[in-house]
Amino acid sequence: MKLIIAYIQPEKLNDVKQALYAAEIYKLSVSNALGCGQQKGYHETYRGVDMEVNLLKKVRLEIAVNESYVQPTIDAIIEGARTGTIGDGKILVLPLERCVRIRTGEEGNKAIG
Ligand SMILES: Nc1ncnc2c1ncn2[C@@H]1O[C@H](COP(=O)(O)OP(=O)(O)OP(=O)(O)O)[C@@H](O)[C@H]1O
Ligand SMILES: [Mg+2]
Repeated sequence: MKLIIAYIQPEKLNDVKQALYAAEIYKLSVSNALGCGQQKGYHETYRGVDMEVNLLKKVRLEIAVNESYVQPTIDAIIEGARTGTIGDGKILVLPLERCVRIRTGEEGNKAIG
């Protein structure tokens, strides 16, 4: 099992969700995040003062999957989120030790899907 964490542009959330649904990936968690990548944010003028805004709004996705769904999930996120410009986002894949469905106590493959 893997936990896939992705940071994407907020306006790409719908496209990513549609691509995930098309790949039969329905279970996900979504939250708002602040972050910066290798551009370290950007500058913007607020009331005439140049300010560094180095934390940009991003959407964070968390998706726990069986091994067979790892690449389809990555592909779907890329399909929905890529524009080819900087800031498109990043995908992290982490080993996932356990998954427990609270209602039944089921674990692992039974609980994740
Ligand atoms: N190494 C990292 N660790 C944690 N979060 C990261 C990391 N890299 C990127 N992120 C998160 O992903 C978001 C999007 O990153 P971004 O797409 O700008 O990456 P990048 O490496 O700068 O690539 P690009 O040059 O295409 O912009 C960031 O705002 C941050 O929230
Ligand atoms: Mg960047």
